[in-house]
Amino acid sequence: MASNGTSALSKTHRFDPDFTQSVINATGPKATPRVRKLTASLIQHLHDFARENELTVDEWMAGLELMNAAGRMSDDRRNEGQLLCDILGLESLIDEITYKLASEAADEPTATAILGPFWRKDAPLKEMGDSIVSGIDEEGHRTWMHGVVTDFKTGEPIEGAVLDVWHTAPNGLYEQQDPDQPDMNLRGRFTTGKDGTYNFYCLRPVPYPIPYDGPAGKILQALDRHPYRPAHIHFIITAPGYKPIVTQIFDRNSKYIEDDAVFAVKDSLKVDFKPIQKDPKADFDLTHDFKMATYEDAKKHSLVGATEESASGV
Ligand code: BEZ
Ligand code: FE
Repeated sequence: MASNGTSALSKTHRFDPDFTQSVINATGPKATPRVRKLTASLIQHLHDFARENELTVDEWMAGLELMNAAGRMSDDRRNEGQLLCDILGLESLIDEITYKLASEAADEPTATAILGPFWRKDAPLKEMGDSIVSGIDEEGHRTWMHGVVTDFKTGEPIEGAVLDVWHTAPNGLYEQQDPDQPDMNLRGRFTTGKDGTYNFYCLRPVPYPIPYDGPAGKILQALDRHPYRPAHIHFIITAPGYKPIVTQIFDRNSKYIEDDAVFAVKDSLKVDFKPIQKDPKADFDLTHDFKMATYEDAKKHSLVGATEESASGV
């Protein structure tokens, strides 16, 4: 967009040349600078999109119906609006923008990945060594997951870091999607001690389809795309004085690892599940360390939003 708020396209199209600016100018004096900026940009892009594609009334109505349907089917168990953003890559792009690191950083905190719509607050608080698996005893591959949470700059272990973990059952469903799973199955929160280490039992996750029986599914179908995510485990890691990390780790050998329906895979987040024999309670061993940045270091390394106040509300 040119500095006066008009895009290159708006100078060349054959429609009313003043219309978009007059809509932008309707914003009143009490709008905050950020609201003014975001809205002006949104209006400009929406109008350019309509002009560039010579959008018809029928096409616009079809888009509206899709958004209204997404709203109607959303509740505290399902967030279809977020799903629409996810399949269009918007949540992954915003994740990248928000957590972008200066490329010159020698070592980096753990990379972030999208939250997705299935996090629940107040997952059960667990002791180290506990299992997050309940009620599906016979299914899945038990995994002993362990590692250490450190300060990315000093390498020192972080005491009091809370790992909030969640993943799907072997049928590919999160517990809130599945009436046959116990409440809060495959979720837990673990707090590190002095040595920063953590360990717990979980399952080796499986690839699963994101819900595709709504508007997001219709778009995937229209775009000739599949709805699958590679096998992954979600984490939110918080610690006093440190910037929270919202992330996922991905099974390197999973189907769809190169073709995630929501574009969230990063190389540094791929992990290896190693078969083990010595633990009668586990089939696989998974080790993964998490590196956190203090708010101060995050700011130095150009981590956007690296203040306690601007941290996302997790
Ligand atoms: C998830 O990983 O839980 C997820 C992410 C985006 C859309 C749907 C599900
Ligand atoms: Fe997931």
